[in-house]
Amino acid sequence: MTSSKVGITLVAIAIAALTTGGCINDPVQDTRSKAFGTDFPAGVEATAYHRPGQPCTACHSTRGGVSPRFSVAGTIFWGSCNVTAAEYKDEKVRAERCDLTPVDGAEVRIRGSNGGEDCAVTNCAGNFSFDDNVVNFPFLVSVSKRVDGKLIQEAQMGGHISREGSCAGCHDNPRRSESPGQVFLFAQDDATGKIGIPDSVKSLIASERGKKCPDDTVPARRKCAP
Ligand code: HEC
Ligand code: HEC
Repeated sequence: MTSSKVGITLVAIAIAALTTGGCINDPVQDTRSKAFGTDFPAGVEATAYHRPGQPCTACHSTRGGVSPRFSVAGTIFWGSCNVTAAEYKDEKVRAERCDLTPVDGAEVRIRGSNGGEDCAVTNCAGNFSFDDNVVNFPFLVSVSKRVDGKLIQEAQMGGHISREGSCAGCHDNPRRSESPGQVFLFAQDDATGKIGIPDSVKSLIASERGKKCPDDTVPARRKCAP
């Protein structure tokens, strides 16, 4: 394409963005948030339980234009999605081998560069969020899950996060060299080295699987353990 054609194309995109009235007049951001389609999962309204695994702040940010605005948000799953890109395209394989069971009541702790610390608890969809401007970037993150007060798993991210507020901005499925895949608590049983979720935890997950989220759209914010 010649440079003048590129120029015309860019102008056309800019005009389209200005006239179609998306979230905001930012073509890149608009495309990014529209790429997620209407409601997800189908039939789940736009509540705290919607769009698990998607990059919340693509929409819930000043740039995304949707309120409430989050500084940091995401979803925690029990298991991982360790399949090839080709396998991931196959819905059946995905359903069988990607564990999309959300972790209810996981604690997501972030430690900011200013020494500040904050913690959010996931809801029944595995979703959590921090309001705007609670913690300074860059920050470290760890995720833990307690059952009856007893810690059953803690997963820590090695590196820090310097500007991306959505976990899914990096944690995109499937797991591959460019992405660690969805945020998960168990890749293997540390005690036995067996790939997958430990048997001791499986019964727990069985009780969380298929649980329906309540209808209240704004769940009361739960507190992390001290
Ligand atoms: C594609 C854009 C998009 C993504 C991605 C997205 N949301 Fe939303 N969300 C919306 C829209 C639009 C609404 C409805 C806002 C309204 O009614 O004013 C909404 C509503 C909500 C609400 C309800 C607010 C209320 O007052 O009832 C919460 C909470 C929420 N989203 C959390 C999340 C979380 C957590 C994630 C990520 C796991 C997420 N959203 C991902 C667009 C998105
Ligand atoms: C800038 C990209 C990026 C962002 C944003 C990000 N991560 Fe990560 N995360 C990584 C990479 C890369 C790894 C694998 C290497 C490592 O542990 O540092 C990872 C690993 C992890 C792990 C350990 C293994 C796993 O995948 O479960 C946890 C837990 C984790 N991240 C949680 C989170 C949470 C929670 C958020 C959102 C608050 C988040 N991450 C946001 C890039 C990111």
